[in-house]
Amino acid sequence: MRVLAARLRTAAWLGWQIESNWAAPFLFVVYAVLRPLAMALILAGMYWAVASQAARREAFLGFYLANAFHAYVTQVMVGMGWVVVEEREDYETLKYVYTSPMGMLTYLGGRSTVKLVLATVSMVLALTVGWFVLGLRWDWASVAWVPLVSSFALGLVACVHLGFLVAGAAMLLPRVAITLNEALAVAFYLLCGVIFPIDLLPAGLRQLALVFPFTYWYEALRRFLGRSGVDRSEIFVETKIWITDYGYDQTLHAFDKSAGKLGIDQIDLLILHQALPGEFDLTISAYQALETLLGDGKVRTIGVSNFMPDHLSALLAATSEVPAVNQIEVHPYFRQSELLAVNSEHRILSQAWSPIGGITFYRDGSHGSTLQDPVINDIAAAHGRTPAQVMLRWHLQQGRQAIPKSVTPSRIAENFDIFDFELTADQLAAIDDLDTGVRGGPEPEQITRTAFGRDIPEA
Ligand SMILES: NC(=O)c1ccc[n+]([C@@H]2O[C@H](COP(=O)([O-])OP(=O)(O)OC[C@H]3O[C@@H](n4cnc5c(N)ncnc54)[C@H](OP(=O)(O)O)[C@@H]3O)[C@@H](O)[C@H]2O)c1
Repeated sequence: MRVLAARLRTAAWLGWQIESNWAAPFLFVVYAVLRPLAMALILAGMYWAVASQAARREAFLGFYLANAFHAYVTQVMVGMGWVVVEEREDYETLKYVYTSPMGMLTYLGGRSTVKLVLATVSMVLALTVGWFVLGLRWDWASVAWVPLVSSFALGLVACVHLGFLVAGAAMLLPRVAITLNEALAVAFYLLCGVIFPIDLLPAGLRQLALVFPFTYWYEALRRFLGRSGVDRSEIFVETKIWITDYGYDQTLHAFDKSAGKLGIDQIDLLILHQALPGEFDLTISAYQALETLLGDGKVRTIGVSNFMPDHLSALLAATSEVPAVNQIEVHPYFRQSELLAVNSEHRILSQAWSPIGGITFYRDGSHGSTLQDPVINDIAAAHGRTPAQVMLRWHLQQGRQAIPKSVTPSRIAENFDIFDFELTADQLAAIDDLDTGVRGGPEPEQITRTAFGRDIPEA
């Protein structure tokens, strides 16, 4: 073991001498530092070309990360093939390794260690440029550390082992080995989702991409770093303006705060949180700001929340864009039938907040939890579903949008899984009958800036 370690050290030292090009230190700096920096800058150029479009920026971050990790494939895996070519054809030293007691595997192992170090420098440089220069950020709080570190380590082990294979092939292929190395580097770069999504590949090549382990490695690293891998265009982002930010200029600025915090350029649906009846002029100005944002393409739709029939009439009289949605408290214990009818009359979509009655159990439990309601539970049992799924189905079948909130992955999945069963008319009516008329949230008429105002921090 001691002998092996000593030989590995010797090989690594030799590798370091060769890589660091002691005869021409400038070349070493070019390869070890300037080349990864140049790569980062090329990507920077691409970034600026797409930066203004949030959807593409999200995808770009994914590619940027894959490019950073790709250094291991080019420098270590393919690089081990290059070791053979260089030593055999350029330095003509390979014959000495054959005859030395070190052995070819040990020698290649030592050389790969240096290449691992240099690839790490390259990766760290690229990530640093991405973070500080390009502002390409990932959320440290959502990094999945254990899978990230273990898949990273597994990938490195795979790189070195595949590197031995490439080196072996290079030895069997004198002269054309250069082509093999180049071809491998290009193939992995183009086919593994490093520079564009593999969905863009023709069907046959996509199948090939799915065979390459690096396709999965890059995707895993991206995801464990907190990137969902889901394109921005597949996510609908809705947020609200709080009453403290009402007023034309303030609301325009509130958009910047929200978009900045969300890291996006365009919000899909932006709504006013409350009608603020005591200062309705401010509400009108805030809504006019939403209309401006809509005209400028900064938001795709605008709407309101907790607006009662009178508030809607006053708003419609003073502004030109009919709100796309009115987000209101609706769950089996508080249905707001009249308001639902008024929304429909104006062709405003009713969006139910606390749709599974969250407010009945997380604020005060005085009127019981909808999740434990016996009627809802009986209907759920009849369909082999959960009470939450039954309530969500009730909303959908009555033409409402529902926005259940959960931080629990299994519940999020459960709340989506409602499209393959149907409640009967009797079951819908039985849930309608549970209405108590008791509101869980604050009375919209009583919302004032004095009682409910609070500063919304800058992005
Ligand atoms: N416009 C407004 O004035 C207003 C007011 C209140 C809320 N909202 C919005 O409405 C949305 C949701 O409303 P909400 O949070 O009040 O109530 P909700 O979605 O009806 O209920 C959320 C609660 O239910 C739990 N939950 C979620 N799915 C579940 C399931 N399948 N089984 C059992 N429990 C489940 C969640 O727990 P876990 O998270 O622990 O899983 C959480 O405690 C939010 O996006 C919020 O922004 C708007």
